[in-house]
Amino acid sequence: MKPPVPTPSRFQPFDLLATLVAVVRSNGSVVFANAALEDTLGISRRTIQDSDFALSFTEPLVLRNALSGLNRNEFAVLRYDAVLKRMNRELLPVHVIVTQTDHPQEVIVELLPLEQQARQEREERLMDQASANKELIRNLAHEIKNPLGGIRGAAQLLEMEINSKELTEYTQVIIHEADRLQTLVDRLLAPHRRPHVVGDVNIHEVCERVRSLILAEFPKGLKVERDYDASLPEFRGDHEQLIQTVLNIAHNACQALSERMVQGDAKLTFRTRISRQVTFGKQRYKLALELHVIDNGPGVPDSIKDRIFYPLVSGREGGSGLGLTLAQTFVQQHHGLIECDSEPGRTDFKILIPLP
Ligand SMILES: Nc1ncnc2c1ncn2[C@@H]1O[C@H](COP(=O)(O)OP(=O)(O)O)[C@@H](O)[C@H]1O
Ligand SMILES: [Mg+2]
Repeated sequence: MKPPVPTPSRFQPFDLLATLVAVVRSNGSVVFANAALEDTLGISRRTIQDSDFALSFTEPLVLRNALSGLNRNEFAVLRYDAVLKRMNRELLPVHVIVTQTDHPQEVIVELLPLEQQARQEREERLMDQASANKELIRNLAHEIKNPLGGIRGAAQLLEMEINSKELTEYTQVIIHEADRLQTLVDRLLAPHRRPHVVGDVNIHEVCERVRSLILAEFPKGLKVERDYDASLPEFRGDHEQLIQTVLNIAHNACQALSERMVQGDAKLTFRTRISRQVTFGKQRYKLALELHVIDNGPGVPDSIKDRIFYPLVSGREGGSGLGLTLAQTFVQQHHGLIECDSEPGRTDFKILIPLP
């Protein structure tokens, strides 16, 4: 057996990077592949070393051309998209950055998985959006709340002044509608006002609670499946907020399932998993909890798909469009994120919460 190839010391820092990095000679042979690349390719460093790196791509010619261009000093950095071949795994679309080094015979090839990059950008957008929402809601709610009290009060005074029953009907409408708006505004302000009650949370208790609430409301034609990872640890969080979160999501699912409930084949699934080394928002976490709430309904309407977490966006007659906004706010208070993946027949809301 050959002894393991020691990492050449000047490349050692590359092993600490999450980015895939190879150092390649101008003829394309590999001098060094970092741990992340080794991992992604599914082959050992020893096998990669001295092999022709161009052959790791579906189109080897592109890297060869890049290397000869660098050799002729036509450019110092080159970027392009390519597809990486992997051992016993699916192809991986990547963004490739080829950079000259101060060593004339060596270039650095960095690979950024495209899907990962796109996902990271999407998640960052969701996080930013959620905090912008929070700000917007709070300000808007206060703006509405103040004059609303005045309107209601004035309508009441007016009502005392008039004797005609016909006219009091109008003041009643004003008072009634002002009250309705007041309730809405209170709901908008509630999550920001309510203190965050922190204790040990068992996510399965949360799911079970929501399950019984849902089954009480939708007793017919709905099957609720549980697929729990019993090894999930408890974590510090706000039990009530998390119940409200999962309930809002499950409730939407049930509303989307109404036709299937009539047919009797509506299905809602709660699935929990642990995921390791996940990046969301701008952070990387060693461990995170994943809770999927999956339904077999018609899917989120395309017209609102990009905006369902925005306040007041609803696809339902009479919907408030607040359920998912609140859910996202609550999960964010746990440093987590909700994502939605939906197509007709399968809608998956994924709640991610980092674990210590
Ligand atoms: N599981 C789901 N299946 C289909 N559509 C969904 C699902 N969850 C949410 N939606 C869509 O997202 C919209 C926004 O949801 P939400 O923020 O809870 O507001 P509301 O329920 O008051 O409309 C819903 O009106 C619905 O159109
Ligand atoms: Mg809702």
